[in-house]
Amino acid sequence: MTEKDQSHAPSLRLEKNLENYLEKNSGDLSLLNSLPKKWEKHGDLIVLPTNSFEEWIDYFGPELWTIVAKSLGGQRLAIKGEISGPERRPNTKLLLGESSWVTHREHGINYSFDVTKSMFSAGNLPERGRIGDFDCSGETILDLYAGIGYYTLPLLVRGGAKHVHACEWSEDAIHALKYNLKANNVAERCTVHAGDNRLAVVDSGSAAEVLGSCDRVMLGLLPSSENGWALALAALKPEGGWLHLHGNAPGGNEKEWADSIVKQLSIMESRKLELVHLVKVKWYSPHIRHCVLDIHIR
Ligand SMILES: C[S@@+](CC[C@H](N)C(=O)[O-])C[C@H]1O[C@@H](n2cnc3c(N)ncnc32)[C@H](O)[C@@H]1O
Repeated sequence: MTEKDQSHAPSLRLEKNLENYLEKNSGDLSLLNSLPKKWEKHGDLIVLPTNSFEEWIDYFGPELWTIVAKSLGGQRLAIKGEISGPERRPNTKLLLGESSWVTHREHGINYSFDVTKSMFSAGNLPERGRIGDFDCSGETILDLYAGIGYYTLPLLVRGGAKHVHACEWSEDAIHALKYNLKANNVAERCTVHAGDNRLAVVDSGSAAEVLGSCDRVMLGLLPSSENGWALALAALKPEGGWLHLHGNAPGGNEKEWADSIVKQLSIMESRKLELVHLVKVKWYSPHIRHCVLDIHIR
């Protein structure tokens, strides 16, 4: 479960156990005012938000981390860093436990990955669910930013896609992706293209299989997938298909942002483009919204 655990019991248990800990160590009880209110749980590993417990630095160590992990119903503990770099690395650090490999089950799909090396956005849960609800039987799909299989897996396992071409350039994400394809029994319906998607598809001898052959293209990269647009349009069948294009939009002006993307794509494309859905996935930062555009081309 990646779901934030919003029930009160673990929060109260955390507060109570840390109050006892501070009293035992003659600590300052005002530290209890800065406890995290949300966290993620992947199996028995609790992932705290960035900067949690920063005022508790004098107490950092296994005793504190064991109390925190157990109070929140886990055995292992990690803390998020800032997502950075072209591989969108999470910079999560393990605070308690030996291994940072987790298995997260969602909508009947097992996603395994190393929390310190690959990101997994709890806020994208509805989008992973929505994509899995598509009926993709008979379809060939290109996922330009596959990661550990955030969308490749739902398309194959739940959507019944005939074949997914999954592009990814992070070695760590590819390791998890291949593991997940096997673990979910869909490896034979997926080709993993390792490397920069533009080179991996066009220069690797896969061009004939992919270009002009796809019914759908996933463009799941933030803040923008613009570098993949030309390849995405070239990958669709001549008669057209769907783009699922992710991006960061200014909060409150999502529709204007969507229209401007469609306008930019129209300049690159002679076929007709129609914006069918604008999905507001989550707040990326206070004024920036992660959105997905379902664009139909024919
Ligand atoms: C982390 S995912 C984003 C997943 C999804 N949007 C989410 O937030 O759950 C983006 C992935 O694209 C990969 N990536 C970025 N640019 C790429 C490129 N040009 N070619 C192949 N992979 C790329 C990164 O390594 C990363 O694993």
